[in-house]
Amino acid sequence: MFSVVLSLLLFAQHGVQGAQQCRLQLNKLNSGGGGVASSTPLGASASTGTATATASASASASATPLAPFQYGTTPIRGVNLGGWFVLEPWITPSIFNNTNNDGIVDLYTFGQLQDSATATSVLENHWSTWITESDFIAIAAAGLTHVRIPFGFWSVPLTSADTNGSTSVAPYTSGAWPYLLTALNWAQQTGLYVILDLHGAPGSQNGFDNSGQRTSTPEWFNNPANISRTVDTLVYIAKNIGGLIDIIEMLNEPAAFDDETTYPGILRQFWQDGYTAIRTIDGTNYVMLGDGFLGVDSWAGFLTYPSAQDVLMDYHEYQIFSVPELERTFDEHINFTCSSMADLTNFAKNNIYTIVGEWSTAVTDCALWLNGRGVGARWDGTYNYTPNTPLGTCDGWTGSYTTFSSSYMTFLRQYWEVQVMMGENVQGWIFWTWKAENADDWSYQKGLEGGWIPQDPSNRLYPDICS
Ligand SMILES: *[C@@H]1O[C@H](CO)[C@@H](O)[C@H](O)[C@H]1NC(C)=O
Ligand SMILES: *[C@@H]1O[C@H](CO)[C@@H](O)[C@H](O)[C@H]1NC(C)=O
Ligand SMILES: *[C@@H]1O[C@H](CO)[C@@H](O)[C@H](O)[C@H]1NC(C)=O
Ligand SMILES: *[C@@H]1O[C@H](CO)[C@@H](O)[C@H](O)[C@H]1NC(C)=O
Repeated sequence: MFSVVLSLLLFAQHGVQGAQQCRLQLNKLNSGGGGVASSTPLGASASTGTATATASASASASATPLAPFQYGTTPIRGVNLGGWFVLEPWITPSIFNNTNNDGIVDLYTFGQLQDSATATSVLENHWSTWITESDFIAIAAAGLTHVRIPFGFWSVPLTSADTNGSTSVAPYTSGAWPYLLTALNWAQQTGLYVILDLHGAPGSQNGFDNSGQRTSTPEWFNNPANISRTVDTLVYIAKNIGGLIDIIEMLNEPAAFDDETTYPGILRQFWQDGYTAIRTIDGTNYVMLGDGFLGVDSWAGFLTYPSAQDVLMDYHEYQIFSVPELERTFDEHINFTCSSMADLTNFAKNNIYTIVGEWSTAVTDCALWLNGRGVGARWDGTYNYTPNTPLGTCDGWTGSYTTFSSSYMTFLRQYWEVQVMMGENVQGWIFWTWKAENADDWSYQKGLEGGWIPQDPSNRLYPDICS
């Protein structure tokens, strides 16, 4: 046990030294670094549970720190490890279905509406099987450089020394931390850089099931205790595992549009406070914020050099969550992507490094439960909205790619390429998502297998697609 913690700690320190060497981009204040990863060990929780055996085995296998990633020069090419630590009904419908309780629609209700022993055993099985070392090997073999790992606050084992608020995560199920440590270890061994993405905050930052809690009354923006606990969570991450990850993403998709008079200011303050807190602990991690659905231009001049350094912007693009977007033809989807590029490129050039941190080749909302467990699709009119204008059936659009037509697969390749181009016009891209139980239109793994995603991500069949 002890040696596991020790070798992970060594990783942490090597990782930090590696990161310090990479302070050579523009946008630097100084390379003082200051923040050698705290001497705090990785946490008692790292030495319990089945994950430790794996961590131990892999930890002793290799301790080679990665060379610093050349942000701004080398494009980030990556995949999200969606549905692993933050489950979503559409990514793993079987896990939700198997509860035999229609009220279990997210991780919050997963913990709330069944006994905790059941929740824990189902989740531990999922954490140890959904993504394994062979996935990291396959991701690296596909020429990708980064994994973005969505993570919930409920998985971060704060103690009372780490927060002035409550340390309770109820009704969420804790216990994923050692599995994350194992994952960070696999990433290092396979040469993949990690973006750790805080995807779920206390109170929910957007009310989406992927924040952990599907609710029409998300509390995070209105609740200072939720916000300060979120900052404490980021500090814990920077302190304990900062040396094992490259980029700390402070919060995924906060829904600042829900109240356009007060939320943008609250979010701005949170980004500032989170950035400052992380920098106080550890000067070496890159820090990422998101546009809060306000458009990147809302953040012009914010956290730019020299008042801040090593900050990135995460922009997400989907074109399927409204009827007008679904109505676009294949050509119009591609054209829309082409026409989005200039703005993003200008923002990145004039402000901070920018990535397209979520996007996919899905062109319908047909994946089962994509809009929430028990909710239908706008595409086929099974989503309950007015006016209900179905565009067709869902047959052949999602599920197994063996049902996809060749013209659809040709489009998937074109749509993949044009979005890769959008990402590589700025500092890179992260596809959503590596795998899904039964939605191949969203799966990088299935795209490789089915041939619409090339094994070499620099390969282009349509280099002039926007011309
Ligand atoms: C849910 O489980 C039932 C049987 O237990 C099965 O008939 C049904 O197809 C499953 N649905 C999904 C979405 O997995
Ligand atoms: C708790 O509050 C004290 C006093 O305001 C402050 O100094 C300290 O930094 C806080 N600690 C955390 C972990 O938020
Ligand atoms: C977040 O805010 C909610 C709503 O006010 C509150 O009930 C909950 O305890 C807070 N959660 C945490 C972890 O602080
Ligand atoms: C492509 O997008 C531009 C800008 O939005 C628009 O003016 C043009 O009509 C579009 N062309 C097609 C073929 O959709």
